[in-house]
Amino acid sequence: MTSPKRLIVNLFEMNTPGHITHGLWRQEGNQREHYKSIGYWLELARVAEAAGFDSIFIADVIGAYDVYRDSLEPAVTEGLQIPNNDPLLVIPAMAAVTKHIGFGVTFSTSYEPPFAFARRMSTLDHLTEGRVGWNIVTSYLPNAARNFGLEDQIPHATRYEIADEYMDVVYKLWEGSWDDDAVVVDRERGVFSDATKVRPIDHVGTHFKVAGPHLSEPSPQRTPLLFQASASTSGIAFASKHAEVLFTADRPYGALARNMQVIQDAAVERGRSTDDLKFVVMATVIVGRTDEEVAEKLERYRSFISEEGKFIHQSVPFRPLDHPGDITVREALEREGRQDLIEAGGLPLAFTVAQYCQAVDEAWDQKQFFSAGTPEKVADDIERWLDEDGIDGINLRQYHSFETALDFGELVTPVLRARGRMRDAYVDGETLRERIFGHPRLPETHPAAQYRGGANL
Ligand SMILES: Cc1cc2nc3c(=O)[nH]c(=O)nc-3n(C[C@H](O)[C@H](O)[C@H](O)COP(=O)(O)O)c2cc1C
Repeated sequence: MTSPKRLIVNLFEMNTPGHITHGLWRQEGNQREHYKSIGYWLELARVAEAAGFDSIFIADVIGAYDVYRDSLEPAVTEGLQIPNNDPLLVIPAMAAVTKHIGFGVTFSTSYEPPFAFARRMSTLDHLTEGRVGWNIVTSYLPNAARNFGLEDQIPHATRYEIADEYMDVVYKLWEGSWDDDAVVVDRERGVFSDATKVRPIDHVGTHFKVAGPHLSEPSPQRTPLLFQASASTSGIAFASKHAEVLFTADRPYGALARNMQVIQDAAVERGRSTDDLKFVVMATVIVGRTDEEVAEKLERYRSFISEEGKFIHQSVPFRPLDHPGDITVREALEREGRQDLIEAGGLPLAFTVAQYCQAVDEAWDQKQFFSAGTPEKVADDIERWLDEDGIDGINLRQYHSFETALDFGELVTPVLRARGRMRDAYVDGETLRERIFGHPRLPETHPAAQYRGGANL
């Protein structure tokens, strides 16, 4: 008999009051405003490790949301991803009070050159003893572009072209610049590192020129575990080449299986194995000991959800809530004098405003990966996601810090463990990649491996 598929669970976080459950920071007892304190992160790390999670996954943006209402004001007022702090800097603190939990961290390839980032990630991989992962993003906010000296967004396809070269640079630094046995620490001979085993990378490309050598010695994973989310053609091409843990869009609704298949096929075409890819979706779990407790939590969840938050976060370029629901999106745009948006395409002009709002709602509040119930019911739903929808894991949306993680650990983890869906304990000394894939470093079929031992530099 084959053993059941094990669930990957990442706690979805961001160094900010309002990440993706907009408005919910207002709930009593929610700790979101303490995101800026080190105590918040220490507690979060302890709770997540006690719950048996695989990692804490920290999202990030490097700009503010200012498209909706053509203004910064809605996002600032709602605490929607602003204020926000740097996601990398909280990791060493969390690593110091835990032994096992991993840390996925988001960093963009679009604005800061790769050399310094490669060193920062190697530092984190050393300090966490191989527990770090990287969510590769190209950044979608126009304000981010203006923060880094540009007039506007780099075109989408160009962002992925830059990202592809960025990956090439960091792979050369992480995998090719130092041999495993380069550091000898020979006190008698006075040799710290064997200089014949450390080399520059001399990368000269279209977007980057990096001499090297890498300044960090090889870390436990060398390349951190690679996460990526993509929906577009160029995003999927990138993911199939580079990513190990993938967030796949369920857009249009019901297309998840097809989207996963497209990525798997593209990866296999590149010589990668489907065993080297895992698919993770964002999921909401609201669990209680009794039906009454679930109903109370669900009611609380619904009553605090911000209507506007979804529009702000999705950078919706008009004001659906200012119009009657029965006029079309085209009419709403005409009333706002936005002929430019009508001509640009991209919005469903024939939808009524009510239909449009519903579509945004559904995209947001996930019809599919939303489970509210007692522990057995939630575990049944999660097992169905694994076995029927074909996913490998979830990024657990926090609707309350720390209630979401505490509830999951106390009520859901024991049931999933009893059903063989989560492990009973962590394995000592395991790196994050080992936990997910069973091996500490990237497989030979991954493009980063071509640089090992200084080959192909
Ligand atoms: C689960 C998940 C997490 C994401 N986290 C971030 C993030 O932290 N920062 C960011 O700029 N983009 C984030 N994104 C957006 C993706 O990087 C990407 O832009 C999006 O999926 C659209 O895909 P595309 O780039 O192929 O168009 C996330 C997407 C998903 C689905």
